[in-house]
Amino acid sequence: MAFKTLDQINLRGQRVFIRCDLNVPLGASGRIADDTRIRASLPGIRQAMQQGGRVMVTSHLGRPNEGALQAHDSLRPVAERLGQLLGTPVPLVVDWLDRPFDVAPGEVVMLENCRAHVGEKANAPELAHRMAKLCDVYVNDAFGTAHRAEATTEALARLAREACAGPLMAAELHALGRALAAPERPMAAIVGGSKVSTKLAILNALAQRVELLVVGGGMANTFLLAADQPVGKSLCEPGMVEAAREVVATLKARGAQLFLPTDVVVADEISETALPVIKPVTEVAGEDLILDFGPRSMRQLVDQLEACKTIVWNGPLGVFEIEKFSHGTRMLATAIAGSKAFSIAGGGDTVAAVNQFDIADRIDYVSTAGGAFLEFLEGKTLPAVRALEDRSH
Ligand code: 3PG
Repeated sequence: MAFKTLDQINLRGQRVFIRCDLNVPLGASGRIADDTRIRASLPGIRQAMQQGGRVMVTSHLGRPNEGALQAHDSLRPVAERLGQLLGTPVPLVVDWLDRPFDVAPGEVVMLENCRAHVGEKANAPELAHRMAKLCDVYVNDAFGTAHRAEATTEALARLAREACAGPLMAAELHALGRALAAPERPMAAIVGGSKVSTKLAILNALAQRVELLVVGGGMANTFLLAADQPVGKSLCEPGMVEAAREVVATLKARGAQLFLPTDVVVADEISETALPVIKPVTEVAGEDLILDFGPRSMRQLVDQLEACKTIVWNGPLGVFEIEKFSHGTRMLATAIAGSKAFSIAGGGDTVAAVNQFDIADRIDYVSTAGGAFLEFLEGKTLPAVRALEDRSH
């Protein structure tokens, strides 16, 4: 992957347009529930300001109807939070394509939700042309949105006078590239989630690459079914059993291994008050719901992970939001945190687990992305990254 980076461009006095991913979760009152993405975007914004750029930052927030921005779509709370973190006010520019505005060298403004413009989602070149006129340098620091070909992520990267990757984009691509393009082996991937159908492409891609594939969450039940094990009334997809068998066959043909639990934690309902019972997989009964990996499986898994030199983690093993079904995911998190392997974690639930078990600073890289991380694992070329690569000369 070759692309220009922010530090290769002289920004003094230049109009610098930074596309960030500041799509943060907002609570019911409109308050920011988690500002990780804003914090992760600070280095690029600071760098551009310190170099004397006239900095404009924008992002999408949610999925607004184009041409009809509602109050709850506004980046105003994000601009305020960014201002607190930078220690300088960040004015919000609302009609930024329709009215002239000025930014002094070394200062920053926030351009209102870019996804509210007609043509943004369709990657319309006419819209990108109008944006390109606002800037001398376009910086894409939005890895979390790199799987979307939209006007601010793709067309603008091709039309702006100069285009480069910001430091967050570069760090994400570097870490994911290190784990997936040229991993130190043995390599393990842990993929959890409820449905095989939504992660089949990732499972197939990883089955071609890893030495150890751990399938967790509801997906493990479909794989257990494919191995003719009882799953009671657990979440599973009988229609995906054949697809699961193909994943297993791919691994086997390469001499790689699938890890499934040999003991599980079951209950008759998913609730805080449910009674958890540990049993061997072979004894799962008709009314049982499998809600976590059991302790014997976890000891085996921890042992196997110890030998790995690269670990990619996406998705919890069990219903970790409920304490009594969280032990498998907690042991996994602790094992990854303590491992000498190069480790990366990504995806919404996974980052929530990383934070819940307080291990973020002991994982080599925690991605800020959800969908983009998954598409990268699938082996897809992300359109925003391709556009930056095409501008590398
Ligand atoms: C995300 O939260 O995964 C990114 O910001 C992309 O958001 P989107 O799925 O609405 O494009």
